[in-house]
Amino acid sequence: MSSVTDTLGRPLRDIRISVTDQCNFRCSYCMPAEIFGPDYAFLPPEDYLTFAEIERVVKAAASLGVEKVRITGGEPLLRKDLPTLVNKLTRIEGIKDVALTTNAVFLPKHARALKEAGLKRVNVSLDAIDDEVFKKMNGRNVGIKPVLKGIEAAKEAGLDVKINMVVQKHVNDHQVIPMAAFFKGKNVTLRFIEFMDVGSTNGWKLDSVITKKEIISLLQSHFGVRSLEPSYYGEVASRYAFTDSSGEIGVISSVSQSFCSSCTRARVSVEGKLFTCLFATKGHDLRAIMRGDTNQEHSMEDELRRIWKKRSDRYSDERTEESSANRPKIEMSYIGG
Ligand code: GTP
Ligand code: 5AD
Ligand code: SF4
Ligand code: SF4
Repeated sequence: MSSVTDTLGRPLRDIRISVTDQCNFRCSYCMPAEIFGPDYAFLPPEDYLTFAEIERVVKAAASLGVEKVRITGGEPLLRKDLPTLVNKLTRIEGIKDVALTTNAVFLPKHARALKEAGLKRVNVSLDAIDDEVFKKMNGRNVGIKPVLKGIEAAKEAGLDVKINMVVQKHVNDHQVIPMAAFFKGKNVTLRFIEFMDVGSTNGWKLDSVITKKEIISLLQSHFGVRSLEPSYYGEVASRYAFTDSSGEIGVISSVSQSFCSSCTRARVSVEGKLFTCLFATKGHDLRAIMRGDTNQEHSMEDELRRIWKKRSDRYSDERTEESSANRPKIEMSYIGG
């Protein structure tokens, strides 16, 4: 195995792969229903990377030191036969962790097969524990029950579960304490995520962000929390424990305290474009290379090395409200978060 670092000395360690740009939800901060309506042109399936192509990319990434793979979407469980892909990826030499980010609705159907295929854990998006708030936020009028059922199915199948809650001022910030109270002692890690300016359709304003500091101060006054060391280098969430030892929580502070200096993540869109940052404006077309549409002779490993060596992205370190408004950005559902 060789390794590669970018222009800021950051190694390539994890890869996030989007397997579909479609979703059964329309969360206002990610795929607002007004924009992602019935006529929205999603990518045709023939444009998707095949499982064999994904495997080829991950093998090349593993040979450069990637150990962790996250499967994302849209909603990844809308992709047919996902356990087959999980199985292929967990068998790749060097890959230690394969995980999935999902809205959990289809987990009752798939959790067992995913676990059997080698999946270790799932991160589940759930933005409120109040039915009405959640129904409004997911844009599909779905209550919390199907998500809670999905979480239970994952736990029963033996998967570790983290819950992701994107916190938006005046939308669901009043749900921070009820969510913490609900999941405390239930053997899941709840993570609060600062609302980010991903894409150009979610109407992001700096003012709508509830910061890590505000979240921690809220939790501190209700429950008592103490900070914990990161569980791995470059972990996105800052970890905390409830002082009564009833579990762990996390805060993902990409806006108020960015973590670009330790960002080791590459992202691959559903059609095989590699992005070196969640906020990159242009991807590198890996599919064209694999389908012989270019004259490139070198290997996938060489291509990834070449791209990573040139990387200098640190968007969240430099973000201002103004720069955010003036820059075209790719949508989260396309790049997978
Ligand atoms: P773990 O492996 O469990 O630590 O997962 P994760 O937190 O890296 O992944 P997940 O898909 O659960 O993402 C949680 C939140 O972190 C989402 O809002 C992501 O968009 C955000 N996130 C993940 N990686 C990055 C990153 O490199 N930059 C930024 N700005 N946000 C990120
Ligand atoms: N800001 C922060 N997190 C977001 N996610 C989706 N859109 C945003 C946003 N604008 C989260 C989802 C999911 C993860 C992949 O990214 O809730 O949990
Ligand atoms: Fe779908 Fe997740 Fe985006 Fe919500 S945040 S619309 S569940 S991909
Ligand atoms: Fe990495 Fe870009 Fe996120 Fe910074 S903004 S942590 S460089 S993906």
